[in-house]
Amino acid sequence: MYLVIDNVLTGETLARAQALLADAPWADGRATAGYQSAAVKRNEQLPERHPLTQQLQEIVEGGLAGSLLFQSAALPRHIFPPLFNRYASGHDFGTHIDNAIRQTPDGAALRTDLSATLFLADPASYDGGELEVEDGSASHRFKLAAGSMLLYPATTLHRVTPVTSGARLASFFWVQSLVADAGRRAILFDIDLGIQSLRPRVGDQDPALVALTGAYHNLLRQWAQP
Ligand code: NI
Repeated sequence: MYLVIDNVLTGETLARAQALLADAPWADGRATAGYQSAAVKRNEQLPERHPLTQQLQEIVEGGLAGSLLFQSAALPRHIFPPLFNRYASGHDFGTHIDNAIRQTPDGAALRTDLSATLFLADPASYDGGELEVEDGSASHRFKLAAGSMLLYPATTLHRVTPVTSGARLASFFWVQSLVADAGRRAILFDIDLGIQSLRPRVGDQDPALVALTGAYHNLLRQWAQP
């Protein structure tokens, strides 16, 4: 599933994140790359334990907690503490796959079911820097508004095309879902979207809506790995 979630950060919250990023202590992005991806990664990142990174993580985590669409689509069990990167002119990230398992800073292992990129710079302020995700013989390109996020399968090969002017700022992280199987997760998401759409039309107590909600939870009970 490739899901664009708009307005994860908006208004003052987005502006605060952008202000923090404006004079951030950027470091070499290869610090968090695996062996293969380090060879094709040319960008900058914020050090994971820097206090400014922690302030930014709280902002992004607040946006994720407030996004019903993210919660419904990802069914997050664990969210990797968001990281932040900057691609200036000449930077890119060649084709790679994200590591299947990541160590969180507190030492826990997280299985990466979903990858997420939250765009933080105005797309008119830089050229290039598209996130391109391979999907069989097709590929999808994304360059989203500041505050919008792409959620995509961590199983995919993907790259960031070269930035040729300006600077691309983003947050990126991974999600371990309660439901590891992408097909099952997609079915649950479809049912939940249907329930949300029906609710204002038929009311909370409509027997069919209650039954459908029950079926959703019973599927989740069967498929979730808490
Ligand atoms: Ni990646």
